[in-house]
Amino acid sequence: MLQQALRVTGRSAFPLVKWMDRWAEGAAAGPVAGQEKAVRTLDDMPGPSLPSFVWDLFARGGLSRLHEMQVEGVNRYGPMWKASFGPILTVHVADPALIEQVLRQEGHHPMRSDLSSWKDYRALRGHHCGLLTSEGEEWQAVRSLLGKHMLRPKAVEAYDKTLNNVVGDLIAKLRHCRRPQGLVTDIASEFYRFGLEGISSVLFETRIGCLDPVVPEETERFIKSINTMFVMTLLTMAMPSWLHQLFPKPWNVFCQCWDYMFDFAKGHIDQRVAAEAEQVARGEKVEGRYLTYFLSQTGLPMKTVYSNVTELLLAGVDTISSTLSWSLYELSRHPEVQDALRKEVLSVLGGRGIPEAADVARMPLLKATVKEVLRLYPVIPANARVITDRDIQVGGYLIPKNTLITLCHFATSRDPTVFPNPHTFQPCRWFRKDQAYHPYASVPFGVGKRSCIGRRIAELELYLALSRILIEFDVKPDPEGVSVKPMTRTLLVPENAISLQFIER
Ligand code: HEM
Repeated sequence: MLQQALRVTGRSAFPLVKWMDRWAEGAAAGPVAGQEKAVRTLDDMPGPSLPSFVWDLFARGGLSRLHEMQVEGVNRYGPMWKASFGPILTVHVADPALIEQVLRQEGHHPMRSDLSSWKDYRALRGHHCGLLTSEGEEWQAVRSLLGKHMLRPKAVEAYDKTLNNVVGDLIAKLRHCRRPQGLVTDIASEFYRFGLEGISSVLFETRIGCLDPVVPEETERFIKSINTMFVMTLLTMAMPSWLHQLFPKPWNVFCQCWDYMFDFAKGHIDQRVAAEAEQVARGEKVEGRYLTYFLSQTGLPMKTVYSNVTELLLAGVDTISSTLSWSLYELSRHPEVQDALRKEVLSVLGGRGIPEAADVARMPLLKATVKEVLRLYPVIPANARVITDRDIQVGGYLIPKNTLITLCHFATSRDPTVFPNPHTFQPCRWFRKDQAYHPYASVPFGVGKRSCIGRRIAELELYLALSRILIEFDVKPDPEGVSVKPMTRTLLVPENAISLQFIER
């Protein structure tokens, strides 16, 4: 017990005392009705010693290998183990049924993590929290408001024209940046811009020029800020706060990135609100159909609007870029799937050139392809939950309240006992009637109240972009390219640049 307690050092003022409190509460909780079997405590849970975990983390490829360490963890310790991530003790859960047990006990206002450096930044600068970072009633209020515009299928379908315009520009941009033999180098960087333009068009109903031949400098800087912020997120969380004073650079860079992202979002919102005010002054009718308009009409403080828009912009860039890059990477290596998918799209369109939201319902292979890509490359390879109001039992262990629980989605979605040939791209596996996968084995958008609010917009954007790219181009691997592995940068992203040939059809 003492050994564990000493691991929980750093961020909180009196961790040892807090830990002993937790332990005492856990011990007092007693067995849950119907589960009188001896309940094990965190003391009984296996896990690496601190030196071996630190060695793995920093000497063997570091934070970028966190997803692989999930798989190694299962092989060494089984489906549940504990480990200290810097100052934080966390319980890893890497089995679909056990992940289900956690999520079913998450309560009314689920919390992802109370140890986030994202929250620390907001507190430091006096910003409000957006949907990604807020908690409790504050989170619930904005979730309900945004849910009306982001989760209802009809509301989301209405964005298809806006998104199709952006897809049209992406196709033109791909044509523009092709080299001899149709080669586009580093497709992810094109797709970052597509992601940002897509989410901006939904948020502001205006275009911000990310797909223009010359990209505005502020856009490039925003994208760079997101990338660097993600790299710094894990580092700043792994460092106890006293280390921030000794090595201030990671924390300072992290804050500068967020400063820029907040300024960027605020600049666009203020511009949009001012343009609207002018319209009203001219006696014109304003009919906003964009998310920022809906948010600003709810009476929320402007600080809350700024933080939510910043977080939505951020959430819509790397997620879309990575998924689109991996989709085309896999399709270029599986021409038979690519051909079948193109046939499906063309037959549904029946001579029309541009798919709409309603068409997607008749494109099961397109949906299965994205599902399979997100199984192989879940953008969020590990999620988290903290249950704050009570101790819970998971897999026969008593987990004290306020423990950080890491949900190892990468490990479950590559688990050979769940998915045969787990490392192979097989979209058709999702059609097999004889094979029902555990519903929590691959949950790339999360499950339940706190799941991804952008899911429907993201899926629509991906479906419209993928189908259109396949209509316009045959996508082939770079003849000189190598196979690309994923790496963790908070999110799961390609380790090396993916270059592909886009051959005109
Ligand atoms: C392939 C694309 C995407 C994937 C795989 C993805 C995945 C996720 C996951 C796993 C979560 C955490 C869920 C949980 O904790 O249970 C999440 C949360 C969230 N996502 Fe996404 N996301 C994607 C795209 C987007 C887009 C385009 C937006 C913005 C329009 C967005 C906005 C958000 C927000 C605001 C949250 C926080 C929700 C809350 O806490 O209530 N996401 N996403």
